[in-house]
Amino acid sequence: MNTSGKAVAVVIGGANGIGEATARLMAARGWQVVVADRDAEAAHRVADSVGGHAVAIDLGSEASIDEAASWIDGLGPVAALVVAAAVFQDVLPPIDLPMAAWDRTVQINLTGTYLANRAFGTRMAQHGRGSIVNIASIAALGSFPVHAYAATKRAVVSLTEGLAGEWGRSGVRVNAVSPGSTLVPRVAGRIASGRYAAHPGTFTALGRVVEPNEVAEAIEFLASDRASAITGVNLVVDAGWQVASTWAQYGGVRASSQQAG
Ligand SMILES: NC(=O)c1ccc[n+]([C@@H]2O[C@H](COP(=O)([O-])OP(=O)(O)OC[C@H]3O[C@@H](n4cnc5c(N)ncnc54)[C@H](O)[C@@H]3O)[C@@H](O)[C@H]2O)c1
Repeated sequence: MNTSGKAVAVVIGGANGIGEATARLMAARGWQVVVADRDAEAAHRVADSVGGHAVAIDLGSEASIDEAASWIDGLGPVAALVVAAAVFQDVLPPIDLPMAAWDRTVQINLTGTYLANRAFGTRMAQHGRGSIVNIASIAALGSFPVHAYAATKRAVVSLTEGLAGEWGRSGVRVNAVSPGSTLVPRVAGRIASGRYAAHPGTFTALGRVVEPNEVAEAIEFLASDRASAITGVNLVVDAGWQVASTWAQYGGVRASSQQAG
């Protein structure tokens, strides 16, 4: 039982990266955080360091999601759900993408996000209040050579809009956050290994990538009552990747504002 009197926030994928930054920020802002992750050891490490709870969950399994939701029922009503777990894929032409990889990406990123929304959103609707934040991606906004991943992320935005309509009158808000390239250890590793043609910060208006805590700020805002009239939006946190992307044919965004008046 949650005897802290704090609002309970469940962060799925809270053991690493953006989810971890979110769990830490939400705990610092007074939420009772439940770190739910497939990596149970890391989930416990994060939860212990913020005075929260840890629970093992596999977003690829309906039974696991329902089991975790039932365990969390013991803490009292959930005020906020953040779905930050996802799997990623290599850049591949369709002919080289194994169907098993396609299926797994859809199963975890889309079906799993739906099932987590269903489990917690239904409970929130019964309780008459709650807020869900699904993490999509800038891959939902344009054309990317990661066909399975991008398709699931665009579908997450669609799902978010549908469920915002579904549960609005029941006091439940459902929003998405779409990060651009965010410097979690996984992405830092990819940059260091020369996996990208150029540093991803090169392509943004701000000339840099996003820090995990900057995404966490947007997530915590949407989860909180400060966003009480906001539902069904996809808040993009991309250091200006989207606005800069259309400047390529003009040679890219200007290097600085030191131009002739
Ligand atoms: N980092 C970026 O540049 C970036 C950009 C756009 C969108 N995103 C999105 O942000 C979210 C977080 O990404 P990240 O970069 O922090 O990832 P990450 O790899 O750093 O962390 C992902 C977490 O999800 C957990 N996880 C993976 N599969 C799971 C499963 N089946 N069940 C439960 N937990 C599982 C992992 O154990 C890990 O703790 C994802 O939805 C991702 O698509 C990230």
